[in-house]
Parts: sequence; C-alpha cells; structure tokens
Amino acid sequence: MSDPRIIIALDFASRQAAQALVERLDPARCKLKVGKELFVAAGPDYVASLVNRGYDVFLDLKFHDIPNTVAAACRAAAHLGVWMMNVHALGGRAMLDSAREALDKMPVRPKLIAVTLLTSMQDSDLAEVGIAGSAQQTVSRLANLVQDCGLDGVVCSAREVSVLRRECGSDFLLVTPGIRPAQAERGDQARTATPQAAIQDGASYLVIGRPITQAADPLAALDAVRQEIGEL
Ligand code: C5P
Repeated sequence: MSDPRIIIALDFASRQAAQALVERLDPARCKLKVGKELFVAAGPDYVASLVNRGYDVFLDLKFHDIPNTVAAACRAAAHLGVWMMNVHALGGRAMLDSAREALDKMPVRPKLIAVTLLTSMQDSDLAEVGIAGSAQQTVSRLANLVQDCGLDGVVCSAREVSVLRRECGSDFLLVTPGIRPAQAERGDQARTATPQAAIQDGASYLVIGRPITQAADPLAALDAVRQEIGEL
C-alpha cells in the first residue's frame, strides 16, 4: 500500500468547510490532520467519517494531563480508527509510558508521537517558564526521552530535523510542519523549509496546510509538492 508523505492540515472552522476540500482529495495521495479547531467544531464522528473514507488521519490534539487521563484519551482516539495521534513530551515519562501502554493494548495500534516544544516558544519564553538551556538542547533532550519511552516519533520544525535524525536514528518518525513550497506565501510561519529540503534533511512526513488548502486548485498544489519530493 502507498504511504503518502504529505499530511494536509484540515484547519477549518466547520465540517462543511473541511468537507468541501476533502471531497476533492484522494487518500492515495495524502493523509489528513485534524487539530483542535476542527475537532471541537465537527466532533469525533467527523474524524471517524474521514477514516471510513479511507484516509490515514493524524489526530493532533496534543494531550497533556495526568497519566491516567492521557491514557484514556489515547484509547478513545484509537477507537476512532486514527492512524496517528500525539501528546506533549513535557507531560513527562510516566505520562508518555501510560499513553504508549494504553495503545499497545489496542488491536490496531495507532502511531503515537509527541510534541517536544511548541515551535512558537523562543529561548526567552523557556527561561520565563523555568526551562534551562536553549530550545535546541531542550528539543533534543525531550526527543530522547520520547524515544526512550517507546513512542514512534516527534513533531519537529524543519530546522530541528537533521539533528534529530542523527540523534534518534532512521526508524524514529519526524513529522514536520512549517513547510512552504518555494513559490508559496509564508503566511505566519517564520522558519520555513521547502518540501524537498525537509525530506532531504530526514523528515518522515510533512504537515502542509494553507499552501494546499487555500490554493485555487488544491489537488494540483498537492501534486506539485509530491512531484517535488519524488512521490510522483
Ligand atoms: O497552514 P500551515 O501549513 O502553516 O499549517 C501548518 C499546520 O501545522 C497547522 O495545523 C499548525 O497548527 C501545525 N503546526 C505548526 N507548527 C508546529 C506544530 C503544528 O504549524 N510547531
């Protein structure tokens, strides 16, 4: 079976708006990401309906709570049939272990990845919340913890991909947002990489939102990226 490396971020305020795009897409060409906005607006049934249409769905709810609560949330997400979900690495070892153990017991185990640090946080923000060291040091330390707890990978920015690929080896998933095809608008993303550069640096999957969702022809925009990374 094909394993498309582009994950389209369905950042829409309603089921109707998301569905207008989904109907033009194809599960053989892309995966889909549902984040907090669409999940709150459209609900778990909509996530299950995307799965039923044949899509690999990344449920991007970034769970961060006590271990028991996160384990239960992961189980509930797994029941929707999602392909991948995520938690916050800052929840710590016990929370990461509980999340993984909960999914290990599922008949079909979704992939479990963790957010290390939100890429919106700068070194000065880290100091303010009491985290010593630079963002890169913190990301590396947390990625190693995530790997040690047996999770499948992390979400990371394009600027972190090559270091993490070296540190965490070839099997660890690196899922990278902030991707902008060379000619695309950057929008509010400050540190961007082209699809080709991110894949060359070692990204496993690319999360792409507006360059595809806001394109006049989303399927053509998707295929242009697939061509750029050698998937077409
Ligand atoms: O539209 P754009 O391509 O910027 O969308 C990127 C997607 O990846 C959004 O859903 C955004 O929430 C998500 N994301 C991100 N940066 C992170 C983590 C997630 O842009 N560090």
